Amino acid sequence: MKITVITGTEIKGCTYHIKEAFLDVLREGNDITEFYLPKDLPHFCCGCKTCFFKSEELCPHAEYVMPIWHSILGADLLVLTSPVYALRTTAQMKSLLDHLCVHWMVHRPDERMFSKKAVVLTNAIGVFNGGAHRDLATSLTWLGISDIRKLGIGLMEGVNWAQLSQKRRQAIIRKTQRLAEKYKNNYTARKGIKVGTLFAITRMMHQGIARKEDPLSADNQHWLDKGWIKI
Ligand SMILES: Cc1cc2nc3c(=O)[nH]c(=O)nc-3n(C[C@H](O)[C@H](O)[C@H](O)COP(=O)(O)O)c2cc1C
Repeated sequence: MKITVITGTEIKGCTYHIKEAFLDVLREGNDITEFYLPKDLPHFCCGCKTCFFKSEELCPHAEYVMPIWHSILGADLLVLTSPVYALRTTAQMKSLLDHLCVHWMVHRPDERMFSKKAVVLTNAIGVFNGGAHRDLATSLTWLGISDIRKLGIGLMEGVNWAQLSQKRRQAIIRKTQRLAEKYKNNYTARKGIKVGTLFAITRMMHQGIARKEDPLSADNQHWLDKGWIKI
């Protein structure tokens, strides 16, 4: 199984240790590629919209974004892991999600996303991981992934891994590794009702707009090339 892991912090702290505990279960026999943010994408989306109107290859940050996107496309399992900042995911993770908007179903989706599995792993000092989960899961859904599992850890005892008691660390590791066990036998995820409905609605939208367009937008040309719409 190919696994792509994107970590929304460079600190070797709680997020790193939780992510390592998850991967320890899956290291044998699997091909793991890791990215750390912001190191592997040190720029915010500048809003030029070149990806939408022309091509994602022309994004001013394509040299960073394209290797991550190609790794995601080649993966069976995608792991997004992030600490909670201000009740949300980190800005560097959001920056990657912004750069991937061009592949949302409203723009130019890739059918390879429909059969992928994704894990969202977050941690916060308190219990409120829901906002960060929503940030990550919303993008994953619009990118076409149905099979998403989320685990939010409340650290409770402190924000430094070394500060946590041995008992707390062991409990966190056990919980994380129970989740990782679910992926030991690789399986192909199926497109669920939510993604299927979003795809059907966006297809109608693209079909309707494409009939009135001359020349076709990059988005609608993509839908036509895929055979998803007719003109
Ligand atoms: C800028 C910043 C904002 C944070 N905001 C929250 C928050 O809103 N809620 C919360 O429970 N913890 C918050 N925390 C605590 C982090 O979630 C915690 O430090 C992190 O999960 C520890 O993981 P790390 O060692 O990988 O950074 C915040 C930490 C930082 C640095």
